[in-house]
Amino acid sequence: MSAPVRIRPVAPSRLLPTSPQPEDLAAHVAEFGPRPIVGSALIAELDRSGLVGRGGASFPVARKWLAVAGFPSGMAKPVVVADGVETEPASVKDRTLLALRPHLVFDGIQLAAEAVGATRAVLYVSRGGESLMAALAKAQRERPGGEVYVEITGAPTRYVAGEETAVVNRLNGRTARPSVVPPRPFEAGVGRRPTLVNNVETLAHVALIARRGAAWFRQVGTAGSPGTALVTVCGGVHAPGLREIAFGQTVGDTVEAAGGPTSEAGAVLLGGYFGTWIDARGAWPLVLDHEALRAVGASLGAGVIGVLPRSACGVAETDRIIGFLARESAGQCGPCHVGLPAVSELLHSVTLGRAGQRSLETLARWASEIYGRGACRHPDGATMLLRSALSVFADDAGRHARGHPCGASRRAPILPTPALPAGWR
Ligand SMILES: Cc1cc2nc3c(=O)[nH]c(=O)nc-3n(C[C@H](O)[C@H](O)[C@H](O)COP(=O)(O)O)c2cc1C
Ligand code: SF4
Repeated sequence: MSAPVRIRPVAPSRLLPTSPQPEDLAAHVAEFGPRPIVGSALIAELDRSGLVGRGGASFPVARKWLAVAGFPSGMAKPVVVADGVETEPASVKDRTLLALRPHLVFDGIQLAAEAVGATRAVLYVSRGGESLMAALAKAQRERPGGEVYVEITGAPTRYVAGEETAVVNRLNGRTARPSVVPPRPFEAGVGRRPTLVNNVETLAHVALIARRGAAWFRQVGTAGSPGTALVTVCGGVHAPGLREIAFGQTVGDTVEAAGGPTSEAGAVLLGGYFGTWIDARGAWPLVLDHEALRAVGASLGAGVIGVLPRSACGVAETDRIIGFLARESAGQCGPCHVGLPAVSELLHSVTLGRAGQRSLETLARWASEIYGRGACRHPDGATMLLRSALSVFADDAGRHARGHPCGASRRAPILPTPALPAGWR
């Protein structure tokens, strides 16, 4: 693996404003200038920029747009969906971006619609955020004429409701649960039309690249991971919250920019609840670059960096998160209906010190059996987290399994595992 080129250690703020006030259209135009009209030529520029999606899978944006624009669909024009539901409990990046810079996202939606030839556009946000929905509707009323009208749709606050086939199902009047692919949204999505689903942060980067170009985008970051990304730093840090990072900076740089750890760090959860635990010593020098992270089996995922103090219990923390993911599956496929609840139950017994010596082997075996067997990646994400916990917290897990749970497992959680409202509509 070639070492990623570190261009700048600290991110210049590209997406985040310095003021906490929501930006209206006049302020937005004063800051960025009017939205350019680029059409389908934008796809080649996005390809040159190397922009990948910020919704979790880091998929190349230009490749997805080309698939939608080029899909043979007769008279059915494509649909653009901006995914802003952000169901990852530890993440605040999408709702903050939408609240502070709505017009950057609206610009991205329009540019996407013009590039792929879409005649319908939807902004998909959490139904729980009524004030955000009202603010977005107000921002939409400020938009200039001649644009594709953006429908602002509320989704249920369920973990899997932001998965792209769940989004399509919801917009087709069904429940917001994922479904088997193919067809993928680009083949038959909303109204069976070719549908482009992009995360709202991805679309905000698009709005900047359309104005400033691919070369500008590449001025920060690394050759393989250009640009900046929004990251939520949470857990045991002095100043938790949203940060904009330049790819190429380290996990340690990022945690220090969030005030540093409140006490000695034991581990870092990288990527969110589909992410991986990394021992703090290994995490600190780790460069935030897709290739460098892949090399250690990690990814930036939904942009969450959670710091776990050494005094906290990684087994109990993982137990709570797996319990959350088991509750939050759509329960439709075997791995979610049977597998995740069984994993969650056994892991909880481990936490309590009641599971027995063989329980860790059983958990590792179940993780392998579950992986890759769901219609969507929900069980894969959960089992990746579990596997990393069994490795990083191996000593602690062994002690728990042998009947010696630690006192820390009864302390308050470090990472949030909320009880989300029931219902899928
Ligand atoms: C269980 C699950 C939940 C997801 N939730 C979200 C979400 O809340 N927001 C989001 O943008 N993408 C979410 N995704 C990823 C989307 O399926 C999709 O990859 C993404 O919206 C595409 O946008 P991007 O290419 O700009 O990253 C989720 C994926 C899975 C498997
Ligand atoms: S794998 Fe789980 S979350 Fe995904 S579709 Fe199947 S039941 Fe639903």
